[in-house]
Amino acid sequence: MNILETRELEYQYPDGTRALRGVSVALRTNNKIAFVGSNGAGKSTLFLHFIGILRPSRGEVLFRGKTLRYDKASLLSLRRSVGMVFQNPDDQLFAPTVAQDVSFGPKNLGMSEAEVEARVRRALKIAGIEELADKPPHLLSYGQKKRVAIAGVLAMEPEVLILDEPLAGLDPAGKRRFIEFLNDLAKRKTIAVATHDVDFAYEWADYVYVLHRGKVVAEGEPKEVFQEVTRANLSPPRVLEFYEALAELGLATPGIQPSNMFELVRSVASLGVRVALAEDTLKEGEAVSLEVEKGRILAKPSREGGSSRVIKTLDAGVVVSANGNIPPKGKVYLYPIENFDALAFQETLAKHEVDFVASLGSEARLLVEREGIELALEGAALERCLLKALAGYHALLLIPQSQIEETVKKIRSYLSGCAAPEIEILRDGGNEA
Ligand SMILES: Nc1ncnc2c1ncn2[C@@H]1O[C@H](COP(=O)(O)OP(=O)(O)O)[C@@H](O)[C@H]1O
Ligand SMILES: [Mg+2]
Repeated sequence: MNILETRELEYQYPDGTRALRGVSVALRTNNKIAFVGSNGAGKSTLFLHFIGILRPSRGEVLFRGKTLRYDKASLLSLRRSVGMVFQNPDDQLFAPTVAQDVSFGPKNLGMSEAEVEARVRRALKIAGIEELADKPPHLLSYGQKKRVAIAGVLAMEPEVLILDEPLAGLDPAGKRRFIEFLNDLAKRKTIAVATHDVDFAYEWADYVYVLHRGKVVAEGEPKEVFQEVTRANLSPPRVLEFYEALAELGLATPGIQPSNMFELVRSVASLGVRVALAEDTLKEGEAVSLEVEKGRILAKPSREGGSSRVIKTLDAGVVVSANGNIPPKGKVYLYPIENFDALAFQETLAKHEVDFVASLGSEARLLVEREGIELALEGAALERCLLKALAGYHALLLIPQSQIEETVKKIRSYLSGCAAPEIEILRDGGNEA
């Protein structure tokens, strides 16, 4: 079922600009949909049609399968189900305090004071800004303002959330945090995002529309779509560009199309040679065994005649022949956040010799920030964690209990076919594991 749909939508601004020229798109329930395009492609104009602020010059908008009408009652019902966050939060925030701002929507729906209050509290919590409730919005940072704008929309409890350029104006860390937040939200809602950030769209979306000069020039799953984005004035996602460059040189397995850093690294062909460090003096032709430990590949003399041989000695190591995967000594620990205790956690870090900590989801990320946990990896946490484990490190992932099962499955599918690091779930604060 499509909550929102457009058919042959055309829109001409009063000055004659034809911003949309026959756009047919659909927002499928529970999808993460990205509308990608360079500046002026028509993304914002399209989004303003989704909430009935602009009316088509031609074609139509369908809401729950019916042609949208523009009388008061129809628009009210549309805006109860579809919430839009504008690109610039200053266009959206106006009340003297954050809480008042967020309460505006539900109040307008004519709810009781108690219900309004409950909704505001929930929305602030989901947006991770409970502590900002009494602050004046104009004193907040850009990223905080964005969260307030989103909380205001969440308080309406819409089914669909549409966000226009949500990452614009955020610094890299803010961006990663925001993507995590979007992922949390997407577990419960249909989310559509307008963005010119192809890297984000490629890794985040389930479905992508590429807009160019008021038209949809490509659509589909990110892996299909981003093969041919150059005609929309966009550069390819970085992950894909690296992969293609490697594959063209015969350094990556053809036909894989990695969708993130982890898959990119895994796509690199199992090279017949490796550069390794050697603690002992090794001679050319000598049999060695290889080990990956804490970011280094070590070659050790092997009496049993290991399958690798020294091809060449270097100043700082050796070039060796290597067959297949080198078993990593790394580990992935999953640490549920529900029973977090700062002291026990420190003990766990020491006991398991953890090199890196990562967090999955906004709640776990807030925990990392609140507790000032060091060694933290930022963003795309699971993939980074696994990369570190493959390189022989001990990585610990802070994770909500409810997501452990799904995550373990995901890890296994990621690691299938390679010499995988060990995975351990630290159920009881890590001490009984
Ligand atoms: N209020 C307006 N009046 C006239 N032209 C506009 C207006 N807003 C946008 N446009 C034009 O419409 C086209 C699409 O703009 P827009 O939807 O903002 O693109 P995007 O959001 O993809 O950057 C552009 O050519 C832009 O200059
Ligand atoms: Mg725009």
